[in-house]
Amino acid sequence: MKPGPIGIFDSGYGGLTILSQIREQMPEYDFLYLGDNARTPYGTRSFEVVYEFTSQAVKTLFDMGCPMVILACNTASAKALRTIQQVDLPKIDPCKRVLGIIRPTVEYLGDITTSRHVGILATSGTIKSQSYPLEIRKLFPDITVSGEACPMWVPLVENGEANGEGADYFVRRHIDNLLAKDDKIDTIILGCTHYPILYDKIRRYTPEHIKVVMQGEYVGRSLTDYMRRHPEMDTLCTKGGTCSLLTTESVDIFKQHASIFFDEDIQVHSIALK
Ligand code: DGL
Repeated sequence: MKPGPIGIFDSGYGGLTILSQIREQMPEYDFLYLGDNARTPYGTRSFEVVYEFTSQAVKTLFDMGCPMVILACNTASAKALRTIQQVDLPKIDPCKRVLGIIRPTVEYLGDITTSRHVGILATSGTIKSQSYPLEIRKLFPDITVSGEACPMWVPLVENGEANGEGADYFVRRHIDNLLAKDDKIDTIILGCTHYPILYDKIRRYTPEHIKVVMQGEYVGRSLTDYMRRHPEMDTLCTKGGTCSLLTTESVDIFKQHASIFFDEDIQVHSIALK
């Protein structure tokens, strides 16, 4: 297999919150980001559709030379990762890798919560899949988990309304709903990669003593550790510090929204998935 960049995939802009943290921790690597903005949101779609869209994206990133793809999307990690790893990868190329972001986030949870009561804010798809409670139970059976689906939050971000007044209503409503389910929660995981873009508002409506966890830092730590444990994959990932961006929607709109994540000028190209 020829070496290439690490592929990062999300349904839209959300994965940029993960990419920026990974790049901070692994600046020497090359990255190729793909946002399926034309078909976002994924969070309200069925298992079959999320799997089909995600596997198209993964195959595209493989065809473009990525030896490894990170699903920087909780919904895709919850609904498509296992099938891609177990059914598709052995047929496509058993040496390639696809990794999700739910397990890496959960791994660090034991050190973060003191009350052992944790809340998850995520898309309807991720909440319905029960992926977070299942993963948390495997590693930390003493932690109580409550979840709240926030179906309006991704559309607010994708439509550039994250800082608008309308967003306050929906942010507050879902935080209040979550805390009404368990008043002992001391840690809230933002279990959707779009949500850090709403961080200021989320923080404003969350009581001060509650920690709000963004995944990017933990995914970066976990990927750094993965590369150390898998030198055979590390040598297949090129190191030039570059970052290319692909979107299935308008290049200009993507550039406008994505530029907040970059210090440098960005090049965005459009791509069709099928
Ligand atoms: N950003 C994605 C996630 O982490 C999905 C958002 C969506 O398309 O609904 O779940």
